[in-house]
Amino acid sequence: MKVLVASLLLVSLVLSSCFVEEAVATAAAASPPSPMPPPGFCESKCAVRCSKAGRQDRCLKYCGICCRECSCVPSGTYGNKSECPCYANLKNSKDQPKCP
Ligand SMILES: *[C@@H]1O[C@H](CO)[C@@H](O)[C@H](O)[C@H]1NC(C)=O
Repeated sequence: MKVLVASLLLVSLVLSSCFVEEAVATAAAASPPSPMPPPGFCESKCAVRCSKAGRQDRCLKYCGICCRECSCVPSGTYGNKSECPCYANLKNSKDQPKCP
């Protein structure tokens, strides 16, 4: 009988540690696409994105809007939008791509 109790205890321990690990993993996976990017994230990403733009002010303005909405900016000065589908899919009122 003692063996049964011990093995039940062991099983429940293993199970609960599994659940804890799963919860931690889920929380970790859920945090990166947070709605609010960390402070300075958009500024630094957009400075790179717009470093070769003809109209820096315009580029930075729209990049900032898109970045805050999507929490991501594609790498490089243009293209690479597949890295950030949200950014790539934002449209302005004329149905043109909004983000630089
Ligand atoms: C796209 O991203 C890669 C890797 O970050 C970068 O090396 C490349 O210059 C980017 N492309 C453009 C067009 O900026």
